[in-house]
Amino acid sequence: MSDHVLVLDSGTTSTRAIAFDLKGRVAAVAQRPLTQHYPRPGWVEHDAQEIWRLTLACAQQVAGEIGTSGIAALGIANQRETVVAWDRQSGEPLARAIVWQDRRTADFCNLLKDEGHEEAVQQKTGLLLDPYFSASKMRWLLDNEGQVRSAAEAGRLALGTVESWLVWKLSEGEHLTDASNASRTQLLALPGAQFDEGLCELFGVPRGALPRVVDTHGLLAATRALGGTTPITGLAGDQQAATIGQGCFAHGETKATYGTGAFVLTNMGRTVPRSAHRLLGTILMQNGGQRTYALEGSVFVAGSLVQWLRDSLGVISSAAETEALARSVADSGGVTIVPALSGLGAPHWRADARATISGLSFASGRAQIARAALEAMAHQTQDLALAFAADGAPWQRLRIDGGMSANDWMAQDLADVLDLTVERPDMVETTALGAAILAAVGAGVFASLDEALAAMRGPLRTFTPNMDDAARSERLARWQRALEAV
Ligand code: G3P
Repeated sequence: MSDHVLVLDSGTTSTRAIAFDLKGRVAAVAQRPLTQHYPRPGWVEHDAQEIWRLTLACAQQVAGEIGTSGIAALGIANQRETVVAWDRQSGEPLARAIVWQDRRTADFCNLLKDEGHEEAVQQKTGLLLDPYFSASKMRWLLDNEGQVRSAAEAGRLALGTVESWLVWKLSEGEHLTDASNASRTQLLALPGAQFDEGLCELFGVPRGALPRVVDTHGLLAATRALGGTTPITGLAGDQQAATIGQGCFAHGETKATYGTGAFVLTNMGRTVPRSAHRLLGTILMQNGGQRTYALEGSVFVAGSLVQWLRDSLGVISSAAETEALARSVADSGGVTIVPALSGLGAPHWRADARATISGLSFASGRAQIARAALEAMAHQTQDLALAFAADGAPWQRLRIDGGMSANDWMAQDLADVLDLTVERPDMVETTALGAAILAAVGAGVFASLDEALAAMRGPLRTFTPNMDDAARSERLARWQRALEAV
């Protein structure tokens, strides 16, 4: 009996396959780490062939455990904005994939800004001119990778984000992207059905090399890679998938995912969102061509700060250790971290900013630094809370997830600093759950998203604010001073 949904969660640092049963329980999982290539400071690349090979291996392992006939549908959630270029004839990548964190196109984006394009681009796409998005990365590949250029000249070039690449490989040649991922390329006008001619011209990207934009759920493609034929019925960028997995279906409902970076999305319903406070307008989902939009605050560094403390500074030996260290001291002793390790994202958008650890004294040790690192998550989130409120989308409560959200100290600190109820599902794999919900609804296993959520969602834990105003003000003033100094 087909009573499982298989999800491929192709993230920045690892790729996974997870099989959910129809009650939302994880039945089988396989995971492989992804090699990170840092050829120059500010550059981050992935090997697209490795992404495919490892994702397929995970999928086949899980399908082997469940049995292909037990899989009703396949859903994909993926790291967004990352660009893959491949040859339509051979199906082989033509260059390394340029990852969302990569800053190499900062000068090109500044040039477009200097030429006065930012306002019109934001108006159309909801996005600011920043190297984060796919369009400038595609342009860079065309300008700098001979193989990409000649494939474009020969009409053999295929460009896409990671879900597009995986669907091509899984379906043996379907070139499509879902609307949520397409909205991160900077080549789609938010209300536009397909990629925008004018934007393609501005960025110098041939429209013919881009995929067809399709729904986030429905019968989208099919794969024979797992034995038999498995329909692909859910596709979404990982942050949009997490928003679905958190059940943010109503206007104003908000989630924050603390993974490599931190991404906050608020459901804005059917209206195209316009930010006046440097947040992003994005597509949350699409079905039957009808769209739901979101307002997004993207923070580039969250869990990667803890990783950096562990791997580069050796201040901690495991990420989990930060919780006990933070609890072991009454405060950070004035130590403040601004985690601008790859510039600052929303709402500051300062590609040139660099990280600081300030307020150090002889009394500062590992505990203070670990605590300051966790405190930075609440500080960065509070900056977003102010911007969302100023844009007319205040949060009533915040649903959190992602690996780092398992840290109880950080979850409570978020509630305290935001002065807001924070909810965390016991099963924090909401990205994968969201893709499972989309795929299940897309395959007709459930009649609606609400029905799927009711069946598949697990229990939540609530964190209630418990910090006095003086302590909160001190924290925010200290953060503000540190921010102004970077
Ligand atoms: O926009 C980038 C985002 O999709 C990356 O998510 O979970 O792979 O760090 P993650």
